[in-house]
Amino acid sequence: MRTQVAIIGAGPAGLLLSHLLHLQGIESIVLESRSRAEIEATIRAGVLEQGTMDILTEAGVGERMRREGALHRGIELAFGGGRHRIDLNELTGKAITVYPQHEVIKDLVAARLAAQGQLLFEVGAVTLHGLDSERPSLSFTHGDEIRRIEADFVMGCDGFHGVARPAMPEQARRQDYQRNYPFGWFGILVESAPSSEELIYAQHERGFALVSTRSPIVQRLYFQCDPSDHVSNWSDDRIWSELHARLENHDGWRLKEGRIFQKNIISMRSFVSTPMQAGRLFLAGDAAHIVPPTGAKGLNLAVSDVQLLARGLEQFYHQGSEQRLQSYGADALKRVWRAEYFSWMMTRLLHTSADATAFECEMQRAELDNIVNSRALATALAENYVGAF
Ligand code: APR
Ligand code: PHB
Repeated sequence: MRTQVAIIGAGPAGLLLSHLLHLQGIESIVLESRSRAEIEATIRAGVLEQGTMDILTEAGVGERMRREGALHRGIELAFGGGRHRIDLNELTGKAITVYPQHEVIKDLVAARLAAQGQLLFEVGAVTLHGLDSERPSLSFTHGDEIRRIEADFVMGCDGFHGVARPAMPEQARRQDYQRNYPFGWFGILVESAPSSEELIYAQHERGFALVSTRSPIVQRLYFQCDPSDHVSNWSDDRIWSELHARLENHDGWRLKEGRIFQKNIISMRSFVSTPMQAGRLFLAGDAAHIVPPTGAKGLNLAVSDVQLLARGLEQFYHQGSEQRLQSYGADALKRVWRAEYFSWMMTRLLHTSADATAFECEMQRAELDNIVNSRALATALAENYVGAF
């Protein structure tokens, strides 16, 4: 097989890239190791920045998002028994949409298939070849067959555990920056009406909690836990009493309970791998960087990476210039590092560390107090949260 752009991974990064290229008349093939049913059912995050909404809308895949997603103009920070609204819209002129990542995946898969895009599911043993040449290729298994694709470019959109990053040629002198956090998030999906119109990020001495939503009848809640803990240690009763304790407040607001139908634990890590390109291999999304979920940036970074890549490829194929492709890594990393900072900052601001001193706990509380009492600091948080720059 031969194509212009070979894409490894049908996550948000790989699927959106393939779709954006298609809109520019550039051919691609997407290889995905899992099945369509699996990628469309994996529960992940759900906050879309305004810029992400705009890209999906301009690309013609935002119709269901606009109809079914919930537009949020603010978020709340809860601590010390009080709730404090950060008015994202008033402070930045922008807003966010809560729309689950797997729904974005469904919309993108449908768009690719409707356009007769080449999307191969359940491929195995993807191996990269000739990345230093102008004819890189991929070999892989599909059913009983061993197949090969020759391309002009290979795009590693295969997530944190993929094969593209480790295949980065040695001359690229890859450098990884990493921080693992000593806590995880316990996530549940609940059948109930929303408890709050806006997301609540709660800091509490027992640990962080987050009240999010999925739809008018399904809610998404999280609480900080030990990353090595097991879902089986948490009965529904234990979960509710922990969430109520962390969300206690003195204005009479109470979390709504409902049937819990999904439980999972996610680990938290900050990670950046540089460079994001070498020869004819480019990395995008989780393949190149991971953020802890506190800043809700993961999906948005994947989208901004592939927007840059699509522009670079468009310039390459339509104007014969490699300029934008050459500066892809440097351009993408500017935004990546700012999002890494924000996600790390939000994580530090809201989580409880077992080894924090009494002084450090007071500093954390003072920082929260400063943010909700200073328009300048609240604006900085809001700008980062909505992705205003
Ligand atoms: N061959 C083919 N496909 C692979 C391989 C491989 N060797 N390894 C991984 N994949 C696939 C995975 O099955 C997955 O579907 O690549 C896809 C990568 O998708 P994501 O992990 O969703 O990564 P990305 O598209 O960069 O999106 C980032 O996902 O993790 C969240 O919060 C994160 O929202 C962010 C988004
Ligand atoms: C989610 O709804 O899954 C969600 C919301 C906000 C975050 C992280 C996850 O910061």
